[in-house]
Amino acid sequence: MSEEKTKLSGPDLTEGIELSSIPDGTMLLGHAQGEPVLLARRANEVFAIGAICTHYGAPLEQGLLDGDTVRCQWHHACFSLRTGEALCAPALSPVSHWRVEHQHRAEVHDVARQFTPLETPVRSGHVQEESGDIVYVREKLESASRPSQPLAAGIRATVVIVGGGAAGNAAAEMLRREGYSGRITMLSADESVPCDRPNLSKGFLSGTASDETNPLRSQEFYKDHQIDLHLGVHVTTIDAAAKQVQLADGTCHAYDALLLATGAEPVHLDVPGADLPHVHYLRTLADGRALVARALVAKRAVIIGASFIGLEVAASLRARDIEVHVVGTETVLMEKVLGPEVGNFLRKLHEDHGVTFHLGTTATMTDKQSVTLKSGERLQADLVVIGIGVRPAISLAEQAGLAIDRGVVVNEYLESSIPGIFAAGDIARWPDRLTGERIRVEHWVVAERQGQTAAHNILGRRERFDYVPFFWTEQYDFGLGYVGHAEHWDKAEIAGSLEGGDCAITYWRGGRKLAVAVVHRDLEGLRAEVEFERVIARNSAGDRTVKSTAAPAQ
Ligand SMILES: Cc1cc2nc3c(=O)[nH]c(=O)nc-3n(C[C@H](O)[C@H](O)[C@H](O)COP(=O)(O)OP(=O)(O)OC[C@H]3O[C@@H](n4cnc5c(N)ncnc54)[C@H](O)[C@@H]3O)c2cc1C
Ligand code: FES
Repeated sequence: MSEEKTKLSGPDLTEGIELSSIPDGTMLLGHAQGEPVLLARRANEVFAIGAICTHYGAPLEQGLLDGDTVRCQWHHACFSLRTGEALCAPALSPVSHWRVEHQHRAEVHDVARQFTPLETPVRSGHVQEESGDIVYVREKLESASRPSQPLAAGIRATVVIVGGGAAGNAAAEMLRREGYSGRITMLSADESVPCDRPNLSKGFLSGTASDETNPLRSQEFYKDHQIDLHLGVHVTTIDAAAKQVQLADGTCHAYDALLLATGAEPVHLDVPGADLPHVHYLRTLADGRALVARALVAKRAVIIGASFIGLEVAASLRARDIEVHVVGTETVLMEKVLGPEVGNFLRKLHEDHGVTFHLGTTATMTDKQSVTLKSGERLQADLVVIGIGVRPAISLAEQAGLAIDRGVVVNEYLESSIPGIFAAGDIARWPDRLTGERIRVEHWVVAERQGQTAAHNILGRRERFDYVPFFWTEQYDFGLGYVGHAEHWDKAEIAGSLEGGDCAITYWRGGRKLAVAVVHRDLEGLRAEVEFERVIARNSAGDRTVKSTAAPAQ
């Protein structure tokens, strides 16, 4: 959160509030000790936690209560109401939590006459409601982090993580959060500490977010948590028999457990001039900084590739008033993933913001001033951005002899074909219980959650990766959240108005519901996630094939 003084709203919860004003299953925003506090009631329990999501600061009172958790409506982080712990990424840090005290009406009257906190009957959190009962938010409680534990027999003493991105970082953090006291070494080819990649094409490029918002954690964080982070290093080989990895400079690191989280690499455009200095790719923080530096002086940009990255870059460059042309081989934007309606809508959205599209074609060359299209047409450009897709970075895994299938094949515990070697993030192809298929996705939240699950399994938990995939995109003031996975679908049903910026699109295959995309219907997106989770839980319990009918979320 920023240093600015947080604006408080709602009642001062330290002064007490009528229990009847928080019906079962509802939340109420208030404040305590100068901080925004969310009061939530579940049956006979009342909880008080910080009201601001630690990911990007969403107001949690607009999220979804589910059991003893609250889910954030923006990017689906999940917090424990009992402890404030960030149970699911993308939030990595907990919210605060407070002790809640309940007084029956008679006691309150009594207390009104003669109140001292110690004499007051205390029912922390638990309530048996009577008319006029009051709940108070009392002192802030300690964070839920578990203390460092001595290494138990059978726990791996040294974990090496190859990759300093979403999955690698989340895994290292989770190991420490779980009290792991062994050695953690994180080896990253990136020159910077793990960064918020989604920010690179959005806030950072458009200029609304500063460079300080890019690192996920500071250098000190890794030191404080004894995570031995090596930046700018390339792991070249894995010797699975000797249980060690080797770097390009010949240094070796032995491991007891290895996590491969090498992510994906941009596909390079193989045309003359694609290596000129004004031609950019966007994957690393260094790429992002170079692109921002160029955008500060550019007047006319050509973006080659019209998928999520290309379109987000287009929107961000328009925010800087740069003339933007987008070149793509498709004729309808994002048609395969989102369908023609959304594709046509996106095209109009961008055109309304001044973007010119050149679809159904490719670039054949670029020089210092222009990009030439297949038709021979030349587009003037002093900035070129190439976003024609990524490939999973699996060369290390291939060299190590791991099973490969358009990614690193892992089981439900994210363990590869070689025991003790795990894989997470953009490289991992895992058995998805919703579709019953092995899938691989390139989503930030999935990569972080896989890193967290892999950490648990490195600690011997045998925890299945049963999360529902989620991603989001932002272009201008348009935001879309997508829950589930529909690589192929045969029916897309739109409820609501796409043009009006208020709709949900459900993707089906063979009568089976596979994914839901929402536009400004955040709660509906969260409910879809819960609904899919229940399907997965049923499938996991019965190990059955997925059926289309899912129980509605409450
Ligand atoms: C600009 C941009 C915007 C995005 N926006 C979104 C979005 O809005 N929503 C969304 O869901 N997803 C988004 N994504 C995708 C998301 O960032 C990725 O899915 C996620 O980063 C994958 O995490 P990962 O840990 O698998 O890989 P990465 O985060 O790519 O990390 C891979 C790490 O491995 C390291 N590495 C690779 N090979 C080696 C080696 N041999 N030796 C040492 N280190 C190595 C790399 O240096 C890097 O540190 C975006 C991606 C980009 C680039
Ligand atoms: S702001 Fe809450 S998950 Fe992103």
